[in-house]
Parts: sequence; C-alpha cells; structure tokens
Amino acid sequence: MRSLLEVGNLSVRYDKAQILNGVSLEVGAEEFVGLVGPNGAGKSTLLRAISGLVNFEARMKRGTTGNIVLEGEVRFGGERIDSLAPHEIRMKGLVLCPERRRPFRELTVLENLMAGAYLASGSTDTGTRLERAFALFPQLAARSGQIAGTLSGGEQQMLAIARALMFEAKLLCIDEPSLGLAPKIRGELFVAIARVHEAGVPVLLVEQEVGQVFRMSDRNYVLSQGKIIAHGPSAQLMADETLRASYLGL
Ligand SMILES: Nc1ncnc2c1ncn2[C@@H]1O[C@H](COP(=O)(O)OP(=O)(O)O)[C@@H](O)[C@H]1O
Ligand SMILES: [Mg+2]
Repeated sequence: MRSLLEVGNLSVRYDKAQILNGVSLEVGAEEFVGLVGPNGAGKSTLLRAISGLVNFEARMKRGTTGNIVLEGEVRFGGERIDSLAPHEIRMKGLVLCPERRRPFRELTVLENLMAGAYLASGSTDTGTRLERAFALFPQLAARSGQIAGTLSGGEQQMLAIARALMFEAKLLCIDEPSLGLAPKIRGELFVAIARVHEAGVPVLLVEQEVGQVFRMSDRNYVLSQGKIIAHGPSAQLMADETLRASYLGL
C-alpha cells in the first residue's frame, strides 16, 4: 500500500545555498510522524515545500532577485502535487499550520473557525466540523465569542490548529507549535494535538522539544543540514547514543 504522503528525493536551493538535499520521507494514513533536527536544518523549508509554498515563492521570484530551485517529487494520496499551487494542495486536505501562526486577532474565536471552513474541501457540513473542533478543543468552545487577539498564546496556537481542522485536513503538518509558549501551556497544547490525531487525523509534527515529540509519534525523521540522517521509531532513535548527543539534545 502507498503512503498518504510520499516525498521523494526532494531538494531545495536558494541561490547557491542547498537548503534541502535529496530528502525522502513518508507519512502513512494513520501515522503520527515527528520531524526533528537542529535550528536551520531545513524543517520549515521541508514543510513549506510539501505545501507548495517554496514552488510558489520560486515562481514569484523567477527573473527577479534570487533563484530558487525545487527538485524531486511529492505525492499525496498517490498523486503528484509538487507543481500545484498552495491553495490547490490545501484543497486536497494537506493543511499546514505554519510557524508563529496567529489567528485573525480582531475576529472572535468562532469567526476565526468559520473563516477556516471557507472554501474547504470535503463533504461534511460546517456545523459538524465546528462541533468536532470544539470537542477537540473545549477551551475554545468556552471562549467562542472572545476576540482572538485577547486569547493567551497557547489558546491562539490551539485556535490556529482548530482552524486548520475546519479545512477538513486529511494530513495536518504543524511547524513548531510550542515556540514561545510557557511549559505548562505547551503540555496542554501537546495533549490537544494528540487528541486531534486520535480523532483520526494523520500528523506530521516539527518540534524543538524532541522528547515530547518522541512520546507522541509512531516514527520520526531527523534532519540535519538539509539531509535525513536517521529515521525510525522513537525508542530506536533514543537508543542511538551518538544521535542523542549530537542531534537530539537528549
Ligand atoms: N525564503 C528563504 N530564502 C533564503 N533562505 C532561506 C529561506 N527560507 C529558509 N532559508 C534558509 O534555509 C535554512 C533552513 O531554514 P529552515 O527551513 O527555516 O530551518 P529550520 O526550520 O529547521 O530551523 C536556513 O539557513 C535559512 O536561512
Ligand atoms: Mg523552522
């Protein structure tokens, strides 16, 4: 059986800088996959390439400043998506929750979620999706009328993920959701992400907090300087002393 997401030999160059170098990665239809690695390894670039944003940037900049080269292939549900536009990829249900994503600050929680459902793919109606989002994020249900800009950082991050779910995500890619959050809030956020996965949404999670990801994930990839240097189940990666010391910070 094919995996839900298949990334094959993906390379990204910004001018002369090789940011991703022949990356291959898969996410199965029911998996929770972690993507870890040092700062600047290329994790965000990989998620942005999968979501069509690198390709988009390359087209925008063609013939102007800088030269972006994207090579390799990305398949989603068996279908090539690497030359599609970001909105086309999202319509297929591959949804990215980018780093430092913040909700529309001046809208309420409910309005933010409804904005997430706008132009969504899939077949379930908005009411059903809203119910599901509130069931997964009870904190948000209690604050549906609150202006999003007045939510705590953790609640805003939850809202960003809930909004992605309103888009009927078939795969949720989340980039460093815990960035800038207090430890206690991080814990709550990870619990919420685990609930999303238990509810049947496959997850590809990028996180600095390696220990936390490894407790939640089925498998992981370790990215360093644009290359996958290791992959496997958490226990297997944890057992590798060199990897732990050099790349995982554990
Ligand atoms: N749009 C861009 N233009 C040029 N260089 C970029 C761009 N985005 C990222 N980079 C470079 O790519 C490298 C990897 O960045 P990034 O993917 O953000 O790493 P990570 O998310 O693992 O910290 C960094 O050296 C960064 O400066
Ligand atoms: Mg990043």
